[in-house]
Amino acid sequence: QPASDPASSGGEQWGTRIGVILAVAGSAVGLGNFLRFPGQAAQNGGGAFLLPYFISLLVLGIPLCWAEWTMGRFGGMRGFNSAPGIFSVVCRTPKARYLAVPALLIPLVIYMYYVVIEAWCLAYACSYATGALMQGSDPDAYTSFFGNFVGIDQDGAAFSGGTSLMYFVLFTFAVNFVLIYRGVARGIEVFCKFAIPLMVVCALCVLVRVLTLPWEKVEAGLGFMWNPDFAALANAETWLAASGQIFFSLSVGFGVIINYSSYLKKKDDVVLSGLTACSMNEFFEVCLGGLITLPAAFIFLGTAVGSQGTFGLGFNALPNVFAQMPAGQFFGFLWFFMLFLAAITSSLSMLQPVIAFFEEGFGLQRSASVSVLGIIALAGSGFVMYFSAELKALDTFDFWVGTFLIFVLAMIQAVMYGWVFGIERGAKYSADGSHLGIPTFVQYMLKFLVPLYLGVIFIFFVMDNV
Ligand code: PHE
Repeated sequence: QPASDPASSGGEQWGTRIGVILAVAGSAVGLGNFLRFPGQAAQNGGGAFLLPYFISLLVLGIPLCWAEWTMGRFGGMRGFNSAPGIFSVVCRTPKARYLAVPALLIPLVIYMYYVVIEAWCLAYACSYATGALMQGSDPDAYTSFFGNFVGIDQDGAAFSGGTSLMYFVLFTFAVNFVLIYRGVARGIEVFCKFAIPLMVVCALCVLVRVLTLPWEKVEAGLGFMWNPDFAALANAETWLAASGQIFFSLSVGFGVIINYSSYLKKKDDVVLSGLTACSMNEFFEVCLGGLITLPAAFIFLGTAVGSQGTFGLGFNALPNVFAQMPAGQFFGFLWFFMLFLAAITSSLSMLQPVIAFFEEGFGLQRSASVSVLGIIALAGSGFVMYFSAELKALDTFDFWVGTFLIFVLAMIQAVMYGWVFGIERGAKYSADGSHLGIPTFVQYMLKFLVPLYLGVIFIFFVMDNV
């Protein structure tokens, strides 16, 4: 088949190389880096968590990321942007498209709750701008602020109000869908090029603020999060959490990267760009996420923060922290605004795979795809809002879709790349547009070690949860 540049269906392509990297990094850097990561690390051995975490990054994250970039571009060159199309050309049989069901389901379902949290971030940023969130040091003030905002009374699931939340959700939806409608280069890429540098600036300001608080307290806060508990390493749960976090954070195993990379050109490189995007994600996660959220919460609240779930930490504990910090109103605003930007660059990447599928699979026009998806997603988000009374419920949900299904898709992709696409073709096609292809030892890892590692983790997962 011809492998010429303009072959991508609909002709959509990324504009510039830095633009693609920022778009993929935008997808990767999100709430996972700032809220999910600190929670996971603190619950799974503190500093010791970094060991399984970095092993998962090297064994699963980066290799699978390269496999997705390579297969995605391969499919894109043959005119396919959606995972079903890409899988069918990669496997040379149309039947393979059914394997792509999780690659559409996962981003769509995650979007439905992710966008609600994105709207919370925007609302919290606005509440700092107006000063409404500066309520002193009583923890109950923040719990009830949150309860009023999401429209849930403290005792249960009653859906009593939450009107302002509705407006924020609708606004957030509108921003997402306008950008998606504008397309990959004019919407997603343009937005990420401005959002990512802005996020770095905001996050660094908050980091400097936190680290320049009285040093004994900072030290205790960092110790609370990072003191290693090596006993946790004997626990299968820790290893599972580490690899789940790597997938969630890098957006690997979601059907997202494979879609984004299908808009690459033949002369674009995949290996260095993929690695750059992963490295940016790790910088945001370990250096910024790992040093801000939990240490700051501990400095002001002490060990009381330990028992809160990830979302409780972000929306109940942190506002209390900012209220007690010098110039907290300003830093609170920067923080939640930065979270909002991080979230939106991620949620865009959850919509694009489904849009591509509607356009390609059903031959819909852009406007029709965007409208249909908008209706489905809005209904789903309404459902999530109705049931998010329990913050814990969100954590549970996040575990099943954000961890379990992703393993399944990661396994499908590893076997597909290593055994069906084949590492010889992998070597050839990953090297297009650059001097480097995927290194040979990584090719062998993808073929043998990655499926094995995933299989072992999966067995532990089943034993733990059934
Ligand atoms: N990687 C994003 C984060 O860390 C989440 C995400 C998941 C984005 C799946 C796209 C697809 O928050």
